Amino acid sequence: MGAVRGASEAGAIAQAAGILRSGGLVAFPTETVYGLGADATDDRAVARVFEAKNRPEFNPLIVHVPGADEARLLVEWTGEAQSLAERFWPGPLSLVLPRLPDCPVSRLAGAGLPTLAVRAPRGGTATRLLEETGRPVAAPSANPAGAVSPTRAEHVLDALGEAVDLVLDDGPCAVGIESTVVDLCGERPALLRPGGVPTEEIEALVGPLAIPGDTDAPRSPGRLASHYAPALPLRIDAGGPGPGEALLSFGPVAPPGAAVERNLSPSGDPVEAAAHLFAALHELDRSGCSGIVAMPVPEAGLGRAIMDRLRRAAAPRPLVDPPGRN
Ligand code: TXA
Ligand code: MG
Repeated sequence: MGAVRGASEAGAIAQAAGILRSGGLVAFPTETVYGLGADATDDRAVARVFEAKNRPEFNPLIVHVPGADEARLLVEWTGEAQSLAERFWPGPLSLVLPRLPDCPVSRLAGAGLPTLAVRAPRGGTATRLLEETGRPVAAPSANPAGAVSPTRAEHVLDALGEAVDLVLDDGPCAVGIESTVVDLCGERPALLRPGGVPTEEIEALVGPLAIPGDTDAPRSPGRLASHYAPALPLRIDAGGPGPGEALLSFGPVAPPGAAVERNLSPSGDPVEAAAHLFAALHELDRSGCSGIVAMPVPEAGLGRAIMDRLRRAAAPRPLVDPPGRN
């Protein structure tokens, strides 16, 4: 098992960067969720990421960079990319753009696609690690394929401990839900995954986003229905819990009768709720209850991303893991 280092400990970032540069795997905190990082230019390191997550190889990874200057070396940068990056980077927004012909990123990281998702994460630790590493870092969320994303170092250790060389611990993630993924390759920008930057804020800058249906799955594999699932069955129901069910509540008024309850935000704040979502699902999953019932959250701002994740967690589970879960 790899070591755990507090991100502010002397030498921790340098050690993590050294591990990445020599082909190892480092789980690191971003403002959204913990990522399982590998040198994106190293095919073997990237392959270890897929292996650790048990993730099908044709599901593409997001490549993390300190900022727009570094992204421009990887993808065909556009005016829209520039204005979105100026407004939201560093932050929870990933941009899908065509790879440059001389893009040094492993083809495996991009799952063989002609495009690449790039993102500059916020939060001092991620930025310092990327700068110190000096290479683009491919990093999916640091959870086994199809499971709930980790928002604390303990989640990573519980689920992937054996497979990671080092976990940089910087406490809970501030945003707590993955980045919004926007595809800038088509005629109109398209929303591939709602996430930490509310859709409305992106639309205010680049106009209405196209929303590819789930039939576009090969282009946006992250949209597969039963994604982000806890081990327990989950249903969304304002009516409240049945016997033995755990309740994932939201707002000041929750239905009574839950065996165990976690409230995402007693004040009804979707930003606070997003930050607590995955940690609450992890906890309820281990509560010994028979299932989880989640109260619906109003679909505005981050509420939309929260409901997207809850619907995926509630979707019928495939009997066999299909390709494309991450
Ligand atoms: O917040 C986040 O985005 C976190 C942190 C670690 O940065 N990362 C994350 O990565 O959520 P992952 O691998 O769990 O999800 C990546 C999403 C998937 O839905 C994937 O299909 C999509 O991004 N994606 C990546 N590259 C793509 C591409 N070239 N075209 C279309 N979708 C892409
Ligand atoms: Mg993921």
